[in-house]
Order: sequence, then C-alpha cells, then structure tokens
Amino acid sequence: MNKTILCIGAGYVGGPTMAMIASKCPDYRITVVDINPQRIAAWNSDDLPIYEPGLDDLVRETRGKNLFFSTDVEGAIRDNDIIFVSVNTPTKTFGAGAGMAADLQYWEKTARQILENAQSSKIVIEKSTLPVRTALAMERILNSQANGISFDVLSNPEFLAEGSAIWDMENPDRVLIGSRETDRGRQARNAILEIYARWIPRERILTTNIWSSELSKLVANAFLAQRISSINTISALCEKTEADVAEVARAVGMDSRIGAKFLNASVGFGGSCFKKDILNLVYLCRFYGLEEVADYWERVVGINVYQQERFIMSMLTAMFNTLAGKRICLLGFAFKANTGDTRESPAIFIARRLAEEHAEVVISDPKALGNARLDLAKIDGVFHYREDPYEAAKGCHALAVMTEWDLYRSLDYEKIYEQMDKPAFIFDGRNILDHKRCFEIGFNVYPIGKPPLTHFEV
Ligand SMILES: NC(=O)c1ccc[n+]([C@@H]2O[C@H](COP(=O)([O-])OP(=O)(O)OC[C@H]3O[C@@H](n4cnc5c(N)ncnc54)[C@H](O)[C@@H]3O)[C@@H](O)[C@H]2O)c1
Repeated sequence: MNKTILCIGAGYVGGPTMAMIASKCPDYRITVVDINPQRIAAWNSDDLPIYEPGLDDLVRETRGKNLFFSTDVEGAIRDNDIIFVSVNTPTKTFGAGAGMAADLQYWEKTARQILENAQSSKIVIEKSTLPVRTALAMERILNSQANGISFDVLSNPEFLAEGSAIWDMENPDRVLIGSRETDRGRQARNAILEIYARWIPRERILTTNIWSSELSKLVANAFLAQRISSINTISALCEKTEADVAEVARAVGMDSRIGAKFLNASVGFGGSCFKKDILNLVYLCRFYGLEEVADYWERVVGINVYQQERFIMSMLTAMFNTLAGKRICLLGFAFKANTGDTRESPAIFIARRLAEEHAEVVISDPKALGNARLDLAKIDGVFHYREDPYEAAKGCHALAVMTEWDLYRSLDYEKIYEQMDKPAFIFDGRNILDHKRCFEIGFNVYPIGKPPLTHFEV
C-alpha cells in the first residue's frame, strides 16, 4: 500500500489531526480536502481558518512538504487508499429526528463520492462522531457495486479537545480503532495502528469491535457533559445554602474514585459536540425503545439550559429587576479558552437573552469576535464588538465572564471599575476572578455557586 493518506473535511478535526500525522510520519504524504474553497485557501495561507495553540508551527513545519490542502476531492480519492472522513455531523434540523438525530447527509455524500471515484480498494476511516452502527450503512453504500473494488470501514473517533488539541493529539489518553473482526478488518486496522504507533505507546492504542468504538465516543462526551451538569446542579443548591461549590467540588474530587477534572461549576458547557452527541445518544436510545435511558441523558442537556437561564435571572434580580437600557460587557465569547470556536457557546444564549431584556451588549474576546458577529447577525438587539477589554467595559453597568481566558484573570479591575457606571456588577460565569479583591474595589460580585459579595443588603 502507498504511504499516502487522504482526509475529507478540513475542519477543527481534519486540519489539526492531519498536521500531527504529517509531522510524526514524514514518509507519508497527507492530503486534506474540503468542498469549502475559502477554508482550503485559509489552510494554504498564513491566516489559518482556526485558532489552536501550536497549530501554526505544526502547519508551517509540514505544509508543502508532506501535507497538502486541496479542493480536488475526486482526484484525491483516486490517488489515496487510506481515507479518513472528518466531515461535519451536526444535529438534524428537519424531518424525522429534527433537533435530536445526527444529520448524516454530508457523511453519506462523502461515501457516495468515494464510491464514484475509487479505482482501487480503500480503507475508509470514520473520524467524525457518528451514531452507533453508521459503519454498516457506510459499508452497504460502498460495497453496493460488484466491480472488484472493496472497502474496509474502520471507526477511529477523535478525542481531542479544542484549545489543547495539539497537546492532546501528541499525548492522547488513548487512541481507539474499531474494526470488523475479520482478516480484512484486522489488516485494515493494523495499517492505521502502524501510523499511530509512530508516536503513541502501543498500550494506549485500543482496538475494539467497530460498534463499541462508534458508541464509546458518544458515551465519552456524554459522561464529560454529565459531570459539568452534575456540578452545576450543585451550584444552584450552594447558592441557597451558603455552601461554596468550589470547596464542595474540591472535597468531592479528591476522592480518587471520582477525580477532580470537569468539576468546575460554570454558566454551562458549549462547543459543537457535547449537546449534539448527547442528543444523538438520546435519539438512539429512543429508537431502540429505551425511554428511561433516553430521559436520563436528555436531562444533562436540560440542566445546561437551566444553568444558563439561571445566570440571566441572577443578573436580572441583582440589577434591580430590569436590564433595559443597561450596557453589559461580555468578557469572552468563545465556548472555552484558547479557541476562536463559538459553536453552542453559552455566550450566544446569554447575549440573546440580554437583548430580549433590551440590554445593550458589548462583546470582547481575543480570538472569537469574527465568529461572534456571525452568531449574532440574525438576532435582534444592540451588539458592539471590542477586542480591548478595557474599551469594552467602559460605561458598562456590568461585566459577565463568559470564557475562562487567562487574560481576564489579570486585568486591572480597579481601572475598569473607575470607567464603569455605578453601582457596578460582576457576574463571573467561570469563577476565575479574585472575587474578594473585586468586591474590595467596589464591585458587587456574583460568582456561580458561592454567596454573592455585595455592597447592599440582600
Ligand atoms: N471539533 C471538535 O472538537 C471535535 C472533536 C472530536 C470529534 N469531532 C467530530 O468530528 C467531526 C468534524 O468536526 P469539526 O469540528 O472538524 O467540523 P467542521 O465543521 O469544522 O469541519 C467539517 C468540514 O467538512 C467539510 N465537508 C462537509 N461535507 C464535505 C464533503 N462532502 N466533502 C468534503 N468536505 C466536506 C466542511 O466544509 C467542513 O469544512 C464531527 O463529526 C465532530 O462531531 C469534533
């Protein structure tokens, strides 16, 4: 087999994963294709289409040597026998399963395109997150023509987290490869395993049956989101009882059976995957008649909406039951720090709800203002965009921390306070600020899951 790899889909997953493989396997030629010509042009420029720490260097090191970005999907399918598919699989917005099921149209189009253009046998790898048993549909489409060409479908879900994608790919907790338990299936699996084994210890490369692999990705995201929703429910209880959610999380997380990660209470989780993948899991459970299981997981998403709405209600109540005409600064718009990605960011929900309350919203973010503008373009309201947080906060009645960017921890809050309308408020949706210090400066401070620090009687 030629040492060439194709990846279809040059997004947050396709671009970085292939750059990593190119860097670790200099003897492989890697091509990444996409139907979106602007995206490909950006991958070929100095201004990459996504922000990810360390990505610029990785692409600079490999692009034009053994990493190529192109819009020639058909030609690339002909030329490559190992094909990763990393196209988007958003939640379906129409027809049966709308709002719940995965929209597999991009996925299926890709399968048909592979079939139409393949002139030799291929290994096709599901990198996208997909409902369990999608590989069966893929196999049926690909092997629908009796032309002597065969296709082996593998599942190799991606576990990278945006914001730390490069580190995650270089040092993954595990790489998962699911295959059919046949000779051909095992052979295909070994071809992919060989690639990862260049830099990942063999004991961290798990091989499973293909359905377990598909399902594990959905379950991993569901468990991560569930931890966030769990601690967020406790933050609501803390606010009623003067317990401090950070202290509770620390005490609970020190139990080695539980672990400390993903226990930070916040305004809620975002990102393109958690909600979509849980709803996908819920849809699958309902499809198989497992109503109780579906209801259980659906609440994880329900609690996330509840937490965001609670944040708005806390702002409204604290600010004398009216936000109309008030200027509110959102510190951060990305769904998490170190990315420009705003998909499903709680900041979108908060900005929309503030606009519904007739507040004026000033948005600040070091990397996500372009995406924020697109997200809010169709929402009625007054939105301003200022990259400089000091400019953004000027004349505002309140700051709301939406993203845990490090830069917000070390701003000069005294200077900010001086330039704000009084009484000035801080709503810390990520619990990252020094609340006591902000209170001493003069702010009324509302953390998540901790008693507020206010200069009024509450
Ligand atoms: N973003 C993450 O952190 C993350 C992590 C793990 C897994 N995933 C999964 O990986 C998959 C991709 O996610 P993403 O964030 O990279 O999405 P994305 O939207 O950033 O990228 C997908 C790309 O696929 C392209 N595409 C769609 N149809 C195509 C076709 N027929 N031919 C060629 N290109 C096509 C789109 O133009 C787009 O650029 C999803 O299933 C997602 O659930 C994402």
